[in-house]
Amino acid sequence: MSEDNKTLTLVTAPSGRIDGDITVPGDKSCSHRSIMFGSLAQGRTHISGFLPGEDCLATMKAFKAMGISIEGPDEDHNVVIEGKGLDGLSAPKNLLDVGNSGTTIRLMSGILAGQQFPSTMAGDSSLNKRPMQRVVTPLKLMAANIDAANEGKPPVVNKGRKEGQALNAIHYDLPMASAQVKSCVLLAGMYANGTTSVTEPGITRDHTERMLTAFGYPVSVEDTAKGKKISIEGGHQLTACDIQVPGDISSATFFMVAGLIATEGQLMIRNVGINPTRVGAINILKKMNGDLTVINHRMAGGEPIADILVKASDLVGITIDQVDVPLAIDEFPAIFIAASCAQGTTRLRGAEELRVKESDRIQAMADGLVELDIQCQVYTDGIDIVGGQLTSGIIHSHDDHRIAMAFAISSLRSKGEIKILECDNVATSFPNFVTLANQVGLKVNKQ
Ligand code: S3P
Repeated sequence: MSEDNKTLTLVTAPSGRIDGDITVPGDKSCSHRSIMFGSLAQGRTHISGFLPGEDCLATMKAFKAMGISIEGPDEDHNVVIEGKGLDGLSAPKNLLDVGNSGTTIRLMSGILAGQQFPSTMAGDSSLNKRPMQRVVTPLKLMAANIDAANEGKPPVVNKGRKEGQALNAIHYDLPMASAQVKSCVLLAGMYANGTTSVTEPGITRDHTERMLTAFGYPVSVEDTAKGKKISIEGGHQLTACDIQVPGDISSATFFMVAGLIATEGQLMIRNVGINPTRVGAINILKKMNGDLTVINHRMAGGEPIADILVKASDLVGITIDQVDVPLAIDEFPAIFIAASCAQGTTRLRGAEELRVKESDRIQAMADGLVELDIQCQVYTDGIDIVGGQLTSGIIHSHDDHRIAMAFAISSLRSKGEIKILECDNVATSFPNFVTLANQVGLKVNKQ
């Protein structure tokens, strides 16, 4: 399993002004799926705009360990995969180490449940504390031989299905709005007898549905009284194709917030994925009076993309609409920084999922904000944040990339130095974050 090494500290100095025209790296969710589906497709898949972050490289390494030939990513972030079809994977010789990546372990649980060979997946100390029962429960209902061996946490141990025996198709009502659980069940559904379906209680990102369709695997979606129902029939094939990965809106959000909380200046962020299931941060920041304009709408690889222009703004605190919560689920660390720079109180509820991300993001952010003299009140499923003056201090990122980056951008409005500990995992999703931050006017140093 991954050796954790917590050596990288980010030290920030107050800045204020921001200026620039940037692109952010490829979308993490789409990059993972492009490797998975390209490996399971028949033929050669070309991927452009791939995110060379550690999480997606972990997915790539896992498929290589199961006999798939993958070239890249090259300097321009292109990847080429020689797919071997749905039944073309071979047994890995060793445990599959998926590092920090929840998406890898949960989506691959669905794929591996459909294989005849045994496999075990585990990751770093942060991933090994995260709940996996949420994927094991539906997979067991499908008669998969899979367990989260450590009281519902990794390792995920899969004994494999018996030769000639398909998984059972099921209908599953997702207990939480999770794209990872939805995707896991749908991917296992490709190896099931009949039609497998899931209903989601809130909108979750739909990259799996879009990309499976791009690979020629039929997926159907209907609106029901309980929420969106997504169905997939076992036994079809994926056909290799070209995938263009859009810029990651989750990474762009750090720079959207930076542009808004800056004391002056503006920032253009280009080629950002604006899939409607991912735009919660744009909605929320606009409602906070953020001067944020989405322009040049176009399509790339089956996903809508656009350029986003942000200008320094006088933000106001709001009560965050429930509908925006699942659409902004990865963006709350950055949104909390916007709230700490806003006039008045920002209230978030219905966000208990934040407690089981790469860290407990409600508590980790609250602890950091209090260290910087921002008042907040924590609730089981959310937080109230009172805007104020960020001061200086030492922040524990708890090995969580998004906590680290959120506090790094807060330096635009801090009075003094902020030291952020345990920042190595910034490389899981945004390898060039520090370079871009300094390029647009922030003062962030690696130590
Ligand atoms: C992801 C889904 C979300 C998100 C994660 C990526 C995906 O997790 O937080 O960063 O690629 O499907 P949940 O499904 O747990 O909400």
